[in-house]
Amino acid sequence: MSKIIAPSILAGNFLKLGEEIATLNTIPDLWYHLDLMDGHFVPNLTFGQPLLEQIKTVAKHPLDAHLMVSNPDFYVKALRDFNLHNITFHIETLPQPENFVLSAKKDYKSVGLSLRPSTSETVFTHNLLSNIDLLLIMSVEPGFAGQKFIESTWDRMAYFKTLKKKHNYKYQIQVDGGVSDKNSHQLFEAGAENLVTGSYLFRQTGKYLEAIQKLR
Ligand code: DX5
Ligand code: ZN
Repeated sequence: MSKIIAPSILAGNFLKLGEEIATLNTIPDLWYHLDLMDGHFVPNLTFGQPLLEQIKTVAKHPLDAHLMVSNPDFYVKALRDFNLHNITFHIETLPQPENFVLSAKKDYKSVGLSLRPSTSETVFTHNLLSNIDLLLIMSVEPGFAGQKFIESTWDRMAYFKTLKKKHNYKYQIQVDGGVSDKNSHQLFEAGAENLVTGSYLFRQTGKYLEAIQKLR
């Protein structure tokens, strides 16, 4: 099973983003996790198309956009030409998630869905789970890097891992929030195939390779 690590650019040093990306480009099996927040779905505002455009020119790893926005219809159109590897939306923002996913899949090679820690797993129907490429399990309340991992995530992972096995769903399980070398091994064992890392990684300036090796 693959062990993708997805550095969350949000937690990096924005004033040295080019250097951060140049270093990360040399480390294998990474995705760049790009947290787009609109100050409405979550109480924080990050970055949008202008920065994505620049990141795209230097990034040598797949781009993974995590959209925490109240108007997904706008962004699904606006980001079509950014050559994203994966785009993930929050189910709480989608009045008709099944239609939305089917339509997004026409423009993106990989479409993911995420849920807040407080959202019930049962909103994910069989139809939805059989059509998404990635399931992003939020292990903190979306909005900020540097928060503490929520322990109820373990039950949630067991739920989605069991369903995946039972129905042979193809979605990749990604976990986002409070990931560190203290929980990464257990997360991979619990079914994660892709771990987002923000503050754990970026506070270890100059030691990104070692930090990522520890996560794996
Ligand atoms: C939070 C974001 C995360 C965040 C992760 O809403 O989705 O990607 O940057 O940061 P850490 O790893 O510090 O929790
Ligand atoms: Zn994220």
